Amino acid sequence: MSASTHTSVYRNDLLAGKVAFITGGGSGICKGIARAFMSHGASTAIVGRKADRLQAAAAELSDETGQRCLAVPADVRQPETIEAALAKTIEEYGSLDVVVNGAAGNFLAPAAGLSYNGFATVIGIDTLGTFNVCRAAFDAGLRDNGGVIINISATLHYGAQPMQTHASAAKAAVDSITRSLALEWGQFGIRVNGIAPGPIAETEGMKRLAPAEEVTKKLERAIAIGRFGRIDEIANVALFLASDAASLVHGETVVADGGAWLGPANIEF
Ligand code: NAP
Ligand code: COA
Repeated sequence: MSASTHTSVYRNDLLAGKVAFITGGGSGICKGIARAFMSHGASTAIVGRKADRLQAAAAELSDETGQRCLAVPADVRQPETIEAALAKTIEEYGSLDVVVNGAAGNFLAPAAGLSYNGFATVIGIDTLGTFNVCRAAFDAGLRDNGGVIINISATLHYGAQPMQTHASAAKAAVDSITRSLALEWGQFGIRVNGIAPGPIAETEGMKRLAPAEEVTKKLERAIAIGRFGRIDEIANVALFLASDAASLVHGETVVADGGAWLGPANIEF
């Protein structure tokens, strides 16, 4: 299945009337989440630094789903740009219901070759960015009206991965933020959860982590289900967490990786 095909097991009106603010929504997994939300009745605002790519993605998603999609350029490391993006979203749609924190940066680098700024940059986008967006969204409307936060994490930090000190630390902190905000913000009717994808095919993340086809094939063979995940499979988890079906799920980071992090499978003994 191509990354742009979303086959749904959910009711078409699952998110009818909802407004979702999705960082990283201009590409990859989070564009897939925006597509799935819109296919189920939501309006979206997609956020990233590259205005042109965002505009193109918003037009494509609207054409495809018939729902509204607003392209709002902002940098999650700059809270004032996020505050402005949230204000624009609420001005356009009148409400805010779901926030997805998908903006992230990653590259392969051994700790010994990672500059101070390289480490800080990934922490800045993934960890500080996630907090910045949650905090700004709380003030912008979630505190008064409740809502859902979904933080996109990873499984890198469950054990350890070579050349991923920066991303592992960043996502471990994201999971911690998910739990802390769930504890403090449940009283406001805000449900906070995360999704930890395993390797997902046809994404920038996997292009960076497994650039050669040979490596990809080896990695896929080692996964319990024998393949990488698809973008629409992560979008399905996001749909569940955004919907009332997940009303009791709170402070949880749902792993969706086909068993990848459990360890190498399908090896010959
Ligand atoms: P991607 O397409 O590169 O998505 C990252 C997005 O973040 C881009 O749209 C990028 O847009 C945006 N972004 C980066 N820095 C930003 C900033 N400072 N401010 C605002 N937006 C920013 O990569 P992906 O592979 O789909 O990854 C999506 C999410 O899934 C990430 O959280 C990643 O850690 C997680 N994940 C991915 C995999 C995988 O296999 N791909 C596995 C586990 C977890 P701009 O460049 O326009 O800013
Ligand atoms: N290996 C080692 N260090 C690297 C690196 C690499 N492949 N790529 C960037 N860095 C370092 C830079 O050298 C710089 O450190 P320095 O100032 O000490 O030289 C630091 O990281 C910041 O780089 P810069 O390019 O200025 O950052 P940016 O804010 O413009 O971009 C990145 C952030 C580096 C994460 C960039 O790759 C990006 O925009 N990523 C978004 C897409 C993405 O990563 N998708 C996958 C999501 S999982």
